[in-house]
Amino acid sequence: MSDTAGDGIAGDGIKGDGIKGDGIASDAVWLKPGQVARRAGVAVSTLHYYEQLGLIRSRRTAGDRREYRRDTLRLIAFIRASQTLGIPLARIKEALDDLPHQRPPTKRDWARLARVWRSDLDERIERLVALRDNLANCIGCGCLSLSACPYTNPGDKLGAEGPGARRLLPASDGLTDRREVASPAPGSRPSNR
Ligand code: FES
Repeated sequence: MSDTAGDGIAGDGIKGDGIKGDGIASDAVWLKPGQVARRAGVAVSTLHYYEQLGLIRSRRTAGDRREYRRDTLRLIAFIRASQTLGIPLARIKEALDDLPHQRPPTKRDWARLARVWRSDLDERIERLVALRDNLANCIGCGCLSLSACPYTNPGDKLGAEGPGARRLLPASDGLTDRREVASPAPGSRPSNR
């Protein structure tokens, strides 16, 4: 079944004819970063960031310029859709690493992952609803007590993770990736930058 997504990308897997040992179709079309960014609706810096994380790959031209395979567009669509669901980039990378030839996810792949991520989403919603409901206890209190407030140190779970500032929610929930506060190294001074 063909499931091209308007970008000429085979949807149910690139296999058989036209595939080289590295999994790249011999007739692959390559696009410049600006073309990919424009068509994918992201900044070129985002492409570089995704590439740095190993989510997408490029090749270099003779003039040392980046080029991306056209099916990178589908890959970016997948990454963006997953991010919209709150899936952390590390988890998205794991899913992509599981695909043969690092090909973009097909319809079938996306349906399978969407099922898994829907249950993740359900869990996060449940957790957030519980957080919201418990927050009623804090409204009008304001103590922020390290021993009494369920939000400053829930169940003292953070103490088990070691000394220093810790996050409120597990990083794996995709909502707290940037909230984690690193503990300063012993003897280090706070930076003003
Ligand atoms: S602020 Fe007092 S219990 Fe949370």
